[in-house]
Amino acid sequence: MTTIGFIGSGQIGGTVARLSVAAGHRVVLSNSRGPDTLQDLAAELGPQARAATAAEAAVAGELVVVSVPVLAFGRLPAGPWAGRVVMDTCNYYPQRDGQIAELDSGKLTSSELLARDLPGAAVVKVFNNIFYKHLESLARPAGGLGRSFLPIAGDDAAAKAAVTAFLGSIGYGAVDDGLLTDSWRQEPGTPVYGPPYGPFGNPAGTPASADTIRAALAEAAR
Ligand SMILES: NC(=O)c1ccc[n+]([C@@H]2O[C@H](COP(=O)([O-])OP(=O)(O)OC[C@H]3O[C@@H](n4cnc5c(N)ncnc54)[C@H](OP(=O)(O)O)[C@@H]3O)[C@@H](O)[C@H]2O)c1
Repeated sequence: MTTIGFIGSGQIGGTVARLSVAAGHRVVLSNSRGPDTLQDLAAELGPQARAATAAEAAVAGELVVVSVPVLAFGRLPAGPWAGRVVMDTCNYYPQRDGQIAELDSGKLTSSELLARDLPGAAVVKVFNNIFYKHLESLARPAGGLGRSFLPIAGDDAAAKAAVTAFLGSIGYGAVDDGLLTDSWRQEPGTPVYGPPYGPFGNPAGTPASADTIRAALAEAAR
């Protein structure tokens, strides 16, 4: 059993939290408005879940999920982040987040931007390319038929191994997408961003094999 801290417990954070509890992990949920506003979700998830402040969730998690709009990056807890494994689900949408020159120019990926705000953290980009309803529906036990795979990118091999093990526990396989600087290959608008798991209109989704995800990553161009 691992404790997973959540900074952001909305559609995607809340779904990862649900899958985590189902897999036997503990979760510490947080959002921008405070723990009182997460009591219903914590109660729904049961005794393995509790609501806390974002600063508490950051420290409590053996693994931390950051799942917020990119515009909130500057308002994340101060840490300490050194040595922490952070799963970054976030996507840059200028119409929501405002224009960010370093992302618009391609100088940085959004995960590199997050890593800059969390000094010393081992950031791994994951969960960003799948619709939250598909993430919930497509989880399958290891060795079972129709297991789906998610791309992961990061600069720290041990952190990627920890994230791969966590994904395995909640019903997914991992495909290596390289370093954080390579993670543009799974950002919005790329072939791996959404389509492999089927149309949004079908909440059941379509299982995506490792080969499907590898082929979609290989097709990415910019
Ligand atoms: N929805 C999807 O299917 C999906 C799939 C993959 C990736 N993503 C990406 O994942 C991220 C989250 O998406 P979402 O759809 O889950 O959004 P969402 O439902 O709007 O949830 C966002 C969460 O972030 C919290 N938050 C905002 N600012 C915060 C701060 N400074 N400190 C702590 N928590 C903060 C919000 O709390 P409050 O409600 O209290 O403000 C809320 O819990 C986005 O970058 C999105 O593009 C989404």
